[in-house]
Order: sequence, then C-alpha cells, then structure tokens
Amino acid sequence: MGDKISVLLEEEKVDARIREIGEQISRDYAGRSVHLVCVLKGATFFTCELAKRITVPVTLDFMSVSSYGNDTKSSGVVRIVKDLDESITDKHVIVVEDIVDSGNTLSYLLTILKERGPASLALCTLLDKPERRVVDVAVDYTGFEIPDKFVVGYGLDYAQKYRNLPFIGVVEVED
Ligand code: IMP
Ligand code: MG
Repeated sequence: MGDKISVLLEEEKVDARIREIGEQISRDYAGRSVHLVCVLKGATFFTCELAKRITVPVTLDFMSVSSYGNDTKSSGVVRIVKDLDESITDKHVIVVEDIVDSGNTLSYLLTILKERGPASLALCTLLDKPERRVVDVAVDYTGFEIPDKFVVGYGLDYAQKYRNLPFIGVVEVED
C-alpha cells in the first residue's frame, strides 16, 4: 500500500535554499532579464518557487523530454515530447531541473538548446547526485548535493506519485 518515506530535506530547508539561489541569480543577472526553461514535470514546483525569489524580470517556458525506451540507464538520447513555445534566441536562458543524476538528459538538452543561439545558457538544479554522473554536465546553480538514494517530493515522483510532498524524502523500499 503506502510506501514509507523518510525526510531527507525539510520544507524549511528547501525553501531557504531556493531563496538563496533566487538572490544569487538576481545578482548575477542584474540589469538583464532571465528566461527560465522548466523541464516538466519534476521541475515545476522548484521553478515556481525560484521564479518568485528572482528580482530581475523573468519569463517562463516549459519543455518535456523523455529517454528513448524504458532503459533507466539511458543511452543519452532523449526525445522532445513538448518543445518550448517561444524562441530562446538572444535570451539569457536558465534551464531549471529537479535533479541531475547520470547527466544524460541535461547533456543532450543543453546541446539542443545551445544550437538555438541563446545569449547565454545556464543550468540550475534543485538536487544533484554527483556519485551517479556518467556524462559531464556543468551545473551553475545547485540546491543540494545528495547521496545516491531515490528521492521524491517537491516535484519529484515515484511512479508519478509524491510530487506534491512539500519536502524531499527518501522512499524506503521494503524487502
Ligand atoms: P539523468 O538523465 O540520469 O540525469 O536523469 C535525470 C532524470 O531522472 C531526472 O530529471 C528525474 O526525472 C529522474 N530521476 C533521477 N533520480 C531521481 C530520483 O531520485 N527521484 C526521482 N526522479 C529521479
Ligand atoms: Mg526531470
């Protein structure tokens, strides 16, 4: 029935860190506008909270990608399920992700977006599991580095569940 979920990062801690990243981005992009590209669905909660903490002008767009096939250790080839609505040419783009794991998805996504000629392209992720990295990805803003555990909440899911948890939790697999 219900899975056991233990708290890894409390709501207050996540909120405080997002506030800090928002302040940092506001300083780094002073005098410019930022165009946030939210990677659906996991990054939606983070993107909304982050956008509220940025004080320079913000525009938003959304993109959805999925790995080819069911293989969790993906080949690094991802399919665009939903493309952006607007052009990113000449915009200061920040890709907002929930988590960087192997790095496959982001590495591919950043390559595609770079070809569209943004004025600048940065990556902001709420969580990072550096131990799992297969492909090098330059992350500009990281909320938290976490151990190699499967986490849920704050947008992250386990079989589409638990995205709405206001904290980051670890699903305890019963054996
Ligand atoms: P990557 O291509 O391996 O970096 O895959 C990253 C994607 O895998 C993320 O955008 C998530 O959708 C998913 N993912 C990786 N680790 C977790 C986790 O611990 N919980 C939930 N989703 C995860
Ligand atoms: Mg994701």
